[in-house]
Amino acid sequence: GVPQVLAGRKVVITAGPTHEPIDPVRYIANRSSGKQGYALAEAARDAGAEVVLVSGPVNLPAPPGVRVMSVETAREMAEAVEAALPCDIFIAAAAVADWRAQSDAAQKIKKGSDGPPMLALVENPDILAGVARRVAQRPPLVVGFAAETEHVLDHARVKLAKKGCDLIVANDVGAGSEVMGGAENSVVLVSRDGEQAWPRLPKSEVARRLIAHIAGLRPDGETAR
Ligand code: C5P
Repeated sequence: GVPQVLAGRKVVITAGPTHEPIDPVRYIANRSSGKQGYALAEAARDAGAEVVLVSGPVNLPAPPGVRVMSVETAREMAEAVEAALPCDIFIAAAAVADWRAQSDAAQKIKKGSDGPPMLALVENPDILAGVARRVAQRPPLVVGFAAETEHVLDHARVKLAKKGCDLIVANDVGAGSEVMGGAENSVVLVSRDGEQAWPRLPKSEVARRLIAHIAGLRPDGETAR
């Protein structure tokens, strides 16, 4: 059996994209299959954790033994995460849309004679930063992902500080990486302690190792000895 390194711990994980409606038939979204987040939920469950998976729209079955909260938009995801707290470990694996349309038209926007409509965007809440910066109920361990197409390590270090999280799992999703939607991932872990690069592995294996790694971390993000 799998070592029960997370027995008695509650883990909240976000996964998948968010869909931000423009009108009843159109939306803004990020590319995300949800595979890495779902694999993490399964690995945390297998390690004995109570798992809440806050999932955007994906084509994946609900993992048995995991509580799935299905959401559509970033604001719904933020609300569901809020409702799922407190927890011991928060992992933000979702590809949240950074912006949403300022107004969600009640009817389908029609093609007109005055050309394409202007789309005004407003910023979505940053769920990861919001959880990491909480005063009350700040989870002892907050983990974020950084999907970058260039300068992966530099961006990950900046993100660690900017979001206020304890660990950033950075991956290169640039052209040719085949990470987006693929079955494999190659990640670099960035914390205040430093970095470690892992070889390219199946997402299930990245998840298993990440859960083992996290279980060995103290709440302040330093490695337990
Ligand atoms: O800023 P960026 O989107 O690159 O950060 C990625 C990390 O932040 C991921 O862990 C993602 O789940 C999280 N995030 C979030 N809410 C947002 C944007 C990103 O939780 N609105």
